[in-house]
Amino acid sequence: MTLQNDLLLRAARGENVERVPIWLMRQAGRILAEYRAVREKAGSFIKLATTPELAAEVTIQPVDILGVDAAIIFSDILVVPEAMGLPYEMVEQRGPVFPKTVRNPQELERIKVADAESDLAYVLEAIKIVKKELNGRVPLIGFAGAPFTIFCYMTEGRGSKTFSIAKKLLYADPAFSHALLQKITDSTIEYLKAQVRAGVDLVQIFDSWAGILSPDQYRTFSLPYIKQICDAVAEATGVPITVFAKGAFFARQEIGQLNCSVVGLDWNMDAAESRQLIPGKTLQGNLDPCVLYADYDQVKAEVKKMLQAFGTQRYIANLGHGVYPDTDPEKVKYFIQTVKEYSV
Ligand code: CP3
Repeated sequence: MTLQNDLLLRAARGENVERVPIWLMRQAGRILAEYRAVREKAGSFIKLATTPELAAEVTIQPVDILGVDAAIIFSDILVVPEAMGLPYEMVEQRGPVFPKTVRNPQELERIKVADAESDLAYVLEAIKIVKKELNGRVPLIGFAGAPFTIFCYMTEGRGSKTFSIAKKLLYADPAFSHALLQKITDSTIEYLKAQVRAGVDLVQIFDSWAGILSPDQYRTFSLPYIKQICDAVAEATGVPITVFAKGAFFARQEIGQLNCSVVGLDWNMDAAESRQLIPGKTLQGNLDPCVLYADYDQVKAEVKKMLQAFGTQRYIANLGHGVYPDTDPEKVKYFIQTVKEYSV
């Protein structure tokens, strides 16, 4: 099916666009009362994410309500460790918790490479429903966590500011760490390929915890696995791939050399410097989500600054990380409208 609005895909491929496309990380989520209502009906985050009809419904909400140029499938990066044999719980006010963790070779033995078509069938089913209901209005983004970020949750068992248990393993047992990272990578490649078969138009890899690694460690424990994913998914599917490595300002040049079309930036990364370090790729980002707590005039001024810095071609507007749940949805709409208005 041809898309009515393919701005995002054209920008990702480096083709000319008549205005800058925009979407928001975490656009399908708690900022919207309509999301909270469906989540209430589902009973829990996990129930919502594993019920394809409901996941599809909240995926489409931001397209209708906010006017974004893409939908992102409603799910979580943590469905991959679950499919590998490590279930998680989503604890109110606290975030994800894994009752069991993987910290040694014996525990690794019990972890399998996920079979996307069976273990993650509910996500693939949600993708098919969304594609049907979107009916070509905007592209659909699929996603997965980068192996290092998934490794953090599987070893630590919960969120952390430092992920020192995860990082300790990199130093103390590199062989174990590489073996677990490889199992996650193999699971992720098959999962992303399955998402494309189910209908997603492009995919994003979230390396949310990249910034806690030193440049050396990043080169050893994260980049090679993202590279495997980009190479395998690009070759098998040909869809544009976005790599978003939060905090990895030090690795921009190397990320820019990956087999991907788009590089996501957080707000610590300067636009002009990033263009220089990442030639020939589309950049995505990078407004500080806290700008959306400021007044309307300030939001407009910051958007204009951002557009001036990135230009209107080879650029996808977004925040530098997920939108914070207590952001006023009217401010989010204003952000989106302002990008549309000032980027033509
Ligand atoms: O709109 C979208 O972006 C699509 C849905 C999406 C979710 N999680 C839904 C979600 C996406 C792309 C993610 C990715 C994700 N999940 C990441 C990578 C991106 C990032 O933010 O760095 C990470 C690290 C996770 C793990 C995760 N999931 C955490 C740490 C938390 C708790 C923090 C929080 O925001 O509550 C979640 C929960 C989660 N995932 C929610 C949503 C909408 C909130 C839970 C709820 O509704 O109760």
